[in-house]
Amino acid sequence: MMESAARPAAEPAQGQGGRMKAELGGVVVLDFGGQYTQLIARRIREQQVFSAVLPCTSSIDEIRKLAPAGIVLSGGPSSVYDAEAPKCDPKVLALGIPVLGICYGMQWITHALGGTVEKAERREYGRAQLSIEDSKGNSCSELFVGIPESLRVWNSHGDHVRMLPEGFRTTGRTENAIAAVEDAQRKIYAVEFHPEVNHTERGTELLRNFLFKVCKAEQKWSGAAFIEETTAAVRAKVGNKWAICGLSGGVDSTVAAVLVHRAMGTRLTNIFVNTGMLRKNEFEQTLEMLRDRLHLHVIGVDASDRFLDKLQGVTDPEKKRKIIGGEFIAVFAEEAQKLQAGEAHGEIGFLVQGTLYPDVIESVSVKGPSATIKTHHNVGGLPEKMPFALIEPLRDLFKDEVRRIGKDLGLPAEILVKHPFPGPGLAVRLLGEITRPHLATLREADAIVVEEIRSAGLYEKVWQAFAVLLPVRSVGVMGDGRTYGLTVAVRVVESDDAMTADWVRLPGEVLERISTRIVNEVPGVTRVVYDISSKPPSTIEWE
Ligand code: XMP
Repeated sequence: MMESAARPAAEPAQGQGGRMKAELGGVVVLDFGGQYTQLIARRIREQQVFSAVLPCTSSIDEIRKLAPAGIVLSGGPSSVYDAEAPKCDPKVLALGIPVLGICYGMQWITHALGGTVEKAERREYGRAQLSIEDSKGNSCSELFVGIPESLRVWNSHGDHVRMLPEGFRTTGRTENAIAAVEDAQRKIYAVEFHPEVNHTERGTELLRNFLFKVCKAEQKWSGAAFIEETTAAVRAKVGNKWAICGLSGGVDSTVAAVLVHRAMGTRLTNIFVNTGMLRKNEFEQTLEMLRDRLHLHVIGVDASDRFLDKLQGVTDPEKKRKIIGGEFIAVFAEEAQKLQAGEAHGEIGFLVQGTLYPDVIESVSVKGPSATIKTHHNVGGLPEKMPFALIEPLRDLFKDEVRRIGKDLGLPAEILVKHPFPGPGLAVRLLGEITRPHLATLREADAIVVEEIRSAGLYEKVWQAFAVLLPVRSVGVMGDGRTYGLTVAVRVVESDDAMTADWVRLPGEVLERISTRIVNEVPGVTRVVYDISSKPPSTIEWE
């Protein structure tokens, strides 16, 4: 139990084509509300084994329908003794399907099968040293085959297992706790630590052992399978209705649009809105790429004035996001009405978005609204009442998975390598009030950052590189005169999935070129600073 941050137990999995096909024989992850539940599913998919997350409350019939080769019980924030502790149907342990419990999953298995779980004297959080029992002998657990007898693992729990259920044996310990148990006969395995996180040494091997040695899972999962599944699920969902897609030209919404286009053909109309907060030349260039190279049906709407008017005088970041989210929906609704009156021959009932899993987790609050990190506009920033139902085919995926799907869909490399750009655009990179002159300044500075990162051959090596305009004036000297201008912060980060990020140690010459060019070429800027904060505790964007 006790993960540092967690979220409410899963809504039914809706990405991944909605449901996995029984013949894929994948692995079902039953979600107890853990922070890493989707990461477990992703680690399994990395092994070309399909994996979908279902709520822990799913019925045995729902689970059986998927004919999984294995079941993983996730971690979660509760204690098994909490009044509202999440539970599975205990019959999942008697289906004859191999089970792996992780953290809370292990505690729940112990509790459900008659063992004892208790509060630990010392909370284990972070690194711990795992000793595997009998790692080389004949009775080595199948989970630990090929894994050294001592390794660093990552823990996050306050309860632990004291007495094992009948038929179980201990296969691993940390200093403070029983860390791994199993009943190999019933094929029930459990670990107290998190094999899915990078900080656990050999975690992938442990998961591979579970998948291939215990579950005998087959590697049938691929981008092609995802595409086929998803298009079928979208077709079933939309029936004979029409849909619009909010395109940004970034990889996520473009992949979502191309996927849904495969499912619906001309019943999908894409809308690309110029919010006035796009980057230099982005509106024209993106429209051209979407229409001429991807042959998508796209309406370009220049709505800059109405967005910027609504944002006048607003400085609060969350207010900015909400206003922009609301305005986006208003534009989409108007365009849908026009379509309805014109070329659409059916009701427009759906809005397609390229929401990814990290957007979802950061927008869903753990402990009520106060714990929301940011309302990413394609998730939480949208108004509660919308005239559309959402289609979010990428909602369970991480960015690198989406890039792989995009490649399988035949998208050009230049789209696939494009850095992420937030839905609210430059609004969250321009601190304080958004004005047209400041947007123009930020656009020029940003273009220089990206140009220099590209010419240093770093664009594809970093996660994001951009400029932020700070409402901080400082004194400078140019020629013989005093200046008093704005400050540009340069942010370049590396990351795997935007959940964590580190600032990039750029070569001095690159920093120097960026700084010199911005101060010389962008009027009104006297100072350039480099952002050396990581996520956490900072976030990637400044607002
Ligand atoms: P943060 O700033 O939360 O950003 O560390 C994580 C990743 O998400 C992007 N981002 C957004 N994307 N709508 C989006 O579509 C948003 O409102 C939004 N806010 C942040 C950000 O660029 C980074 O890649």
